[in-house]
Amino acid sequence: MIEIFNMTRKILRYRKQIDYVISETLDSGNLILGQQVMKFESEFACYLGAKYFVAVANGTDALEIGMRAAGLKRDSKVAIVANAGNYSRTAINQIEATAIYMDVNPWTRNVQLENVKTAIAEGAEFIVATHLYGKAIDDIREIVEYCSNRGIVVIEDCAQAHGARIGDKPVGTFGELSCFSFYPTKNLGALGDAGGIATSSDLLALRINSLRTYGWEGKYNVTLKYGRNSRMDELQAAVLRVFLKNLNEENMKRREIAKRYINANVNKTLQMTPFSFHDYVAHLFVVTAKDPHRAITHFKDLGISTASHYPTLDTEQEYLEGAEVDKELPVSKYLSKHSFTLPCNPELTEEEIVQIERAIASYHEI
Ligand SMILES: Cc1ncc(COP(=O)(O)O)c(C=O)c1O
Repeated sequence: MIEIFNMTRKILRYRKQIDYVISETLDSGNLILGQQVMKFESEFACYLGAKYFVAVANGTDALEIGMRAAGLKRDSKVAIVANAGNYSRTAINQIEATAIYMDVNPWTRNVQLENVKTAIAEGAEFIVATHLYGKAIDDIREIVEYCSNRGIVVIEDCAQAHGARIGDKPVGTFGELSCFSFYPTKNLGALGDAGGIATSSDLLALRINSLRTYGWEGKYNVTLKYGRNSRMDELQAAVLRVFLKNLNEENMKRREIAKRYINANVNKTLQMTPFSFHDYVAHLFVVTAKDPHRAITHFKDLGISTASHYPTLDTEQEYLEGAEVDKELPVSKYLSKHSFTLPCNPELTEEEIVQIERAIASYHEI
């Protein structure tokens, strides 16, 4: 059975380099906020073209700390999408802010300016723009311009889109700040939990740095109330520095596989997100079918695993009650009930890719 992602293969491919940097880090005796984290922060900031990158413990912390640094507080109104796995909402719940849900474009599966305008009309003061599945939001530039003319802060969630670009500009450099996860299966993934925040604002960088270290300004002097401990450790940073060197190459491999799948879809019975080139880094290859159960069975019978990202909208989560549950998000709802994910990553062998291409080509709707 072809797996959605095979971590053992990735570790094996990089094993020598991983072993080397791990022993080097252990020899240094520094395990928290040492040279490796500092170097990764400056290398990733440089990769993005941002002034600062602050490493934290995971992507959800990045969202929460980023939101707090941007000024989000209890009862602030923040617009998010409902089809991106509830991560933004988890952060919002910690702050006790209010979520306003936006629907998405049926082809890109991403939020677009028109949805942002509706959210602002509903009172949104902050926007989280999630570049879902590795596809950069096509009109992120226009969204940021529209928001900044109205004093509305845009936070980009780039957890699935490391290296995706609109023109020459990488995602993560459009909004006031942007959040990244380095969860192991991400395009840039650590060997455990890790995350971080990019910004080019001196003030935001100072706040983020303080919030990830107990709210300190200098040692033991607490100046921010909601500070906490959320640090990336040295070992993860050392490993991320190895993977970062190959990020563009790995993204290219993903993109090429995705292009092959799109070309194999001769019957056009599976809906696939069109992309031009750098705007997509194929983090998750999500397709939509009229009858997803039939399609999933077709792939399973041909030895191909599928996954679901994500079967439950934020607004359908069990703990919710009241008006949020009734919010109508027709596009997000359709996509969540009709989509599934096919394996698409650099660990696949040529034979496996061909097997998946053939399975796509042989799928028909009745
Ligand atoms: C879009 C998105 N945002 C945020 C996160 C949260 O990242 P983490 O799992 O590192 O907390 C994820 C992780 O899976 C994600 O896919």
